[in-house]
Amino acid sequence: ATALSSAAFAQAYPERQITMVVPFAAGGPTDTVARLVAEKMSGDLGQQIIIENLGGAGGTLGAGRVAESDPDGYTILMHHIGMATAATLYRSLAYDTVNAFDYVGLVTEVPMVMVARKDFEPADFPAFVQYVKENADGVTMANAGIGAASHLCGMLFQSAIDTQFVTVPYKGTGPAMTDLLGGQVDFMCDQTTNTTQQITGGTIKAYAVTTPERLPLFPDLPTVAENDLPQMEVSIWHGIYAPKGTPAEVTERLSKSLQLALADPGVITAMGDLGTALPAADATPAALKAKLESEIARWKTIIDAAGVYAD
Ligand code: MLT
Repeated sequence: ATALSSAAFAQAYPERQITMVVPFAAGGPTDTVARLVAEKMSGDLGQQIIIENLGGAGGTLGAGRVAESDPDGYTILMHHIGMATAATLYRSLAYDTVNAFDYVGLVTEVPMVMVARKDFEPADFPAFVQYVKENADGVTMANAGIGAASHLCGMLFQSAIDTQFVTVPYKGTGPAMTDLLGGQVDFMCDQTTNTTQQITGGTIKAYAVTTPERLPLFPDLPTVAENDLPQMEVSIWHGIYAPKGTPAEVTERLSKSLQLALADPGVITAMGDLGTALPAADATPAALKAKLESEIARWKTIIDAAGVYAD
């Protein structure tokens, strides 16, 4: 076929279905945000956005898959803060975090909650911290691999209480939640998108939230700062990326569709019910680029201080 000029190509975009890679297993928080947004974007774009879950290595496998995809707008990535932390955690990434992607826009910010299996002994967060410190060799924390949000929160927790314990990696906190519900693992720090239903249903125990303020959803849940652990504060921002070299008209088209999705009342309600707060509609490519670059610098300092690396 003759190569379409970039303008003609972008004009026709999208003319077939788009793949949105979620770098974690289905059923987890990243997958939840992706499916919510992709469904609305599909309507606006007139083409189906299908989700491809590619978990592993804390999200870096899926990110790498998109980095090496054709920059034609038909393979995009939904990722979160792990895009920034992996840049420091992994000394040999298959992709160059700041140069392998073009930017579509920021999506949403999600709080985290420290949760445990329902029959875990400690009754409240202070007792939880004490118990973990005293039983460090006998407790297990689930996460979605080095580079995951659950890993980041766990790293902050271990640094804050100066205690190391066994962590169990999963391909996402969807599968990790299954084991938490089954009592196969003791606790984890996970996003409200994945924990709200379980907390409300009483099938897991919740100890504290990692936001500066308490969550309207859970007014009785204390913050980590109330328990003198403000260094654990972390919220999980999400962004949509495209491979470097994607025509600007295409990323702009995707950004416009994302902004419409984030302004949709149904999406706002659904995200609110899951404890997430949508950013003002700064879902522009420039806002995501700036966020990623500033977050890489911020978390590099914290990760280097903790001395935690993947390899
Ligand atoms: C994480 O810990 O990064 C996420 O919860 C992973 C996921 O979305 O499953």
